[in-house]
Amino acid sequence: MTTVTTQTSTPSRSTLAQPMDRQRGREIQAFGSLTRRPLGLDESACAASVEALTQVLADTITLRDLYLKHHWQVSGPTFYQLHLLFEKHYQEQAELADTIAERIQLLGGVSIAMGADVAETTQIPRPPKGREDVPSQISRLLAAHEMILRQARQSAHDAADAGDDGTNDLLVSDVVRTNEKQAWFISEHLVEMPLVRAGASSQGDGADQKQ
Ligand SMILES: [Fe+2]
Repeated sequence: MTTVTTQTSTPSRSTLAQPMDRQRGREIQAFGSLTRRPLGLDESACAASVEALTQVLADTITLRDLYLKHHWQVSGPTFYQLHLLFEKHYQEQAELADTIAERIQLLGGVSIAMGADVAETTQIPRPPKGREDVPSQISRLLAAHEMILRQARQSAHDAADAGDDGTNDLLVSDVVRTNEKQAWFISEHLVEMPLVRAGASSQGDGADQKQ
């Protein structure tokens, strides 16, 4: 007598352990659309804030990456301190980007994230792939900071006018203050300062001799 094995509908163990990869469902929210949340804010206020924050996000991600590029490519007598300072600012900009992106989601929007989408949106000019000297690196960073600061202050005023105090607070307390402070720290590196011998006084070298 032979035993006949019949197939049942019960899956084998190996089937249960099989990851269900290679799936691709529908997009659940299109970029540019808005989901509504009970935030006590008008839809128009949310939409305006999402649009403004998207611009600041794209520029913040670009500035973040500019700091990382300069962190890697910096050179010269101030290499070590700038290498560390650029990394610190990179990390602070990365935190800012996260805060901005999460507010876009909170308001019902869709945050951009990928490099190609950021490149399409940012207003900050693309730097060369090659290395630049320190004054050029810092000048490029300062121009990017100023661009973000102008945009963020205007967007903060608009958000306050529309009643979106949360976005106003984020833009002022986080974006403006962080960018102002970073601009101060790096701009001081473009001041020509004697390293060993004090410079001549504005009244001439004879000023000290009269005393
Ligand atoms: Fe590093």
